[in-house]
This record gives sequence, C-alpha cells and structure tokens, in this order.
Amino acid sequence: MAFDLSVFSVGALLFLVSLVVVLISVVNERLKPNAAEDNKVKSSLFHQICQFVCGSPSISVPGPPSYFPFGNMMELAHDHLPLHLTSLAQRYGSIYRLRCGNTTIVVLSSTEVIREALVKKWSDFAGRPHSYTGNIVSGGGFSISLGDYTELWRAHRRLVHSALQRCCQKSLHELIERHALRLRKVLMDYKGTAVDLSEDFTVAASNVITTLAFGKEYDKSSPELQQLHKCLNEIVALWGSSWISALDSFPLLRRLPNPVFARLLKEVVRRDDIIQKHLKDYKSQDKKSEDAITGSLLHGLEQNTELTDTHVHMATVDLLIGGTETTAAWLNWTIGFLLHRPEYPKYSDRHRLPVLNALIHEVSGSDHIAGYFIPKNTVIIPNLFGAHHNPAVWPEPYSFKPERFLEGGGSTRALVPFGGGARLCLGESVAKMELFLFTAYLLRDFQFVLPDKVPPPDLKGVASVVLKINPFKAIALPRLGNFS
Ligand code: HEM
Repeated sequence: MAFDLSVFSVGALLFLVSLVVVLISVVNERLKPNAAEDNKVKSSLFHQICQFVCGSPSISVPGPPSYFPFGNMMELAHDHLPLHLTSLAQRYGSIYRLRCGNTTIVVLSSTEVIREALVKKWSDFAGRPHSYTGNIVSGGGFSISLGDYTELWRAHRRLVHSALQRCCQKSLHELIERHALRLRKVLMDYKGTAVDLSEDFTVAASNVITTLAFGKEYDKSSPELQQLHKCLNEIVALWGSSWISALDSFPLLRRLPNPVFARLLKEVVRRDDIIQKHLKDYKSQDKKSEDAITGSLLHGLEQNTELTDTHVHMATVDLLIGGTETTAAWLNWTIGFLLHRPEYPKYSDRHRLPVLNALIHEVSGSDHIAGYFIPKNTVIIPNLFGAHHNPAVWPEPYSFKPERFLEGGGSTRALVPFGGGARLCLGESVAKMELFLFTAYLLRDFQFVLPDKVPPPDLKGVASVVLKINPFKAIALPRLGNFS
C-alpha cells in the first residue's frame, strides 16, 4: 500500500474521516440536494475513498508518503512551489509522484526526463487533464493552453501558429524596436531616480502582444490596459490558489460557499467582456490593421468551419496571458541578476532564467518515463525550475554565472525554458526576438545601479505561474551621461 500507517497517522486518519463525515452532513443540511444529486455526491466520495485505499492508478514511481484524504496536497501548497518541488527531487529523484485526492501527479525535474516525456514521447504527453475549474477559465476547454489534445485542438493551434508566423514575418522586428525605443524614453524620463521597473516591462511586453493581436497600443496610465492586466493576473493567481485547485480534487467542496471561487467567476466574466469588446471593435473598423493576428484568425475561420469565434476569443486570451508576464518577468530577472554582477553589463545569460512551467500535461496513452510505467490519465508536471537548477548539470546552480556558457561549462541543450513537443510555447520566436532586442537596447543605453546602501535584490523569487523576482528598485544611468 502506498501510505505508511503509524500511530500518528491512524489518529490523523480517524480525525480526517470524521471531518469528511461532518462536511457531508453540513453540505446536506445547507444545500438539501435532490435524491439523484445526493447519490452523485456520495458515490463520488465513495469513489475517492476506494481510489485512495486501493492505490489506483497503480504506479511504482517513488514519492513521499501520502495520507487519506488529502494525500500529498500540502506539498503543493508551499509558498515557493518550484523550490519545494526541486527539494523533493533531491530526496526522491528526478521523477517522483504526489497524490492529491483521486489524482496522481508525476513531477519531472531534470532536462533529460522532461525531454523524454515532452519531446521524444510527445504524443503520449500532449493531453491536458480535464478539470472542473480549468473548464471554467478556458471558456469550456476552448483555449490552446488548457485545451486537451484533440483533432480540433490541433486545428486551433495550427491556425494561431500560422497567424502568428504571418504577422511576425511582416512587422515583428520593427514593432519590437519601436517599443524598445519607447521603453528607453520612459527610463530616460526617470532621470536617475530609483524605480521599480516591473510595470514598465509589463507595459512594453503587453504592447507588443496587443499590437500583434488587435493593432492596439497603450500608455502605462491607460485605465483600459490596467483593467486588462488586473483581470488576467487575478485569474492566473486565483486559479493557482489551493482554494480553487481543491475543487478539482474534491468535487464535494463545490457545494460549499467559496468566496475565492466566486471572485474567479467574476474575473472570468470581466475578461470575456474586455476581449469581446476588442473583437467587436476590430470587426467594426473600416480600415482594419492588416498585420493584426485577429484578422488572420477570423479569416482562417472561413477555411475551417469547425473553429468558431470562441476559438478566436480564447486564442487572444492565450496570447495575452502567455506573452506578457513571462517576457516582463524575464526582463526584470535580467536586471536583478545584473545588479548582483555589475561587471557584467553584457547580455550573456539570456537562457538561464528560472521560469516555472506550471502548466500540467496528461498522459493520453500509457507509457514509460525513465523506465517507470506511467498509466494513462496520470498528470505530469514538468518542473523547469528544477531542471535549470540541477546541480549535476549546473555547478552552483543558484549563482548567477554567465561565464558558465562562455567557458563551455554549460550547454544550452540542457535548457528547456519554452517547454517542448506538441505543447512547445507558441510564442517562442516572438519571445526570443523580444528578449534579445529589449535587452540589447537596455544594455546599450543604460547601466543599471543600486540606490546608495541598498543591497542587491533577493534572487529567491516569488512563485506564481511565472516565477517573478522579488520587487526591487534600480537606477537606470544613461551610458552617454545625459538624459535625452
Ligand atoms: C520569456 C518568454 C516566454 C517563456 C519563458 C514562455 C514559456 C512557455 C512555456 C514553458 C510554455 C508551456 C509549454 C508546456 O505546456 O509544456 C508556454 C506555452 C505557451 N506560450 Fe509561452 N513563453 C514565453 C513567451 C510567450 C509569448 C511572447 C507568447 C505569445 C506571443 C506565448 C504564448 C504561449 C502559448 C499560447 C502557450 C500555450 C501552448 C500550448 O499549450 O500549446 N509565450 N510558454
């Protein structure tokens, strides 16, 4: 059996079982469901107990002991999830399992096993688990990032991929350069005061995507932009919270009042109203921007009758979420790292950044990773942070040492910042050009220094879907000496 029974765990078990019993009676009392619903709840609880006790699905991958009914759920509730998953990998190896309610999760923490799953066996690991809350935030499974691997999903991804390619070939370089120069002006206008640049990076990255998506650019102070970001960030943060993920593992909890979930639903409605308005505005323009992805996507619908306006809607959400905080966080980490090594004013460590891939995959057909049998429907988490901090590959993994690449001590092949296989980041080429051009302009024109007597930023990071650097202030000094 997959869990150890000690005196303590028997006590804990009894306590938790009574808790569940009390929970059921509270639910029954509060909601008074009809007989059919009542049976559904009870059979779902019965199903969870059976699955847990029988240890299904059978899986021989090592992992921490797990106790009914929460299993290893607390392992996923850590403040700094990437760091915690990485420390578990030191104990259980680069492939280990966690149990959460009736779900078994396999965590992959080295480039080798991540590549084996995502690239070599891409078709087995291309799925996404069906989840109650995922369905809500993805507009019913219509988004690319959360949609399951089906023929329709492939057609959707192909459509967005070719729309991105077409628009990028036409104008991407010019577009990013324009926003890099706008960012340069913003930094000059600070005239040497110490500021937190994270919002400016978010605006720059977001403007590249909103221009690509529907031909619209914003100022930092624009209420429309602020509303859009507030809402998207809220959805990502709320969806990642344990209050929400518990609803997927414990269906029973969906019957209890949950203010966090209510907020998520409200933000999803707000997001959909904003995107809807943009698409409507775009459609009503007399002179539509030829370069906008929306145009290509809507045009593509004429060729593929199975894809609908909802696919265009959700693709826009995917691009806005996928393309903003990732790029902005990367730029902010670059400045943060450079403040630790002021002798490195060059852009030379562009790949070794701790981006967490919090997206989960699902095994669509049973297969093996690193020799272990992974049954169908197992959820896998590729822990990119763990792979990029593996001491067997990167000596002193937590030190910022760009020279490891210059001296042949680090291979870019061991890096997987954009994932891989069927789920490779759709914006990889956009992101690479953005990161290169933004950083090149920033470092050509500015030297970044710390305010007097302020220590360099803490590099531990704050975990959400993207691992962000802790907030810090820096001074951008023009290399040519004058602020113009
Ligand atoms: C520093 C910048 C970026 C990084 C590090 C990054 C990284 C990633 C990673 C790790 C994934 C998940 C792959 C998986 O599920 O295994 C992903 C997916 C995705 N990214 Fe990016 N990304 C970046 C920028 C962008 C940009 C600029 C865009 C849009 C133009 C974008 C759009 C997407 C989309 C739509 C997906 C979902 C793909 C799918 O599930 O098929 N990303 N990205």
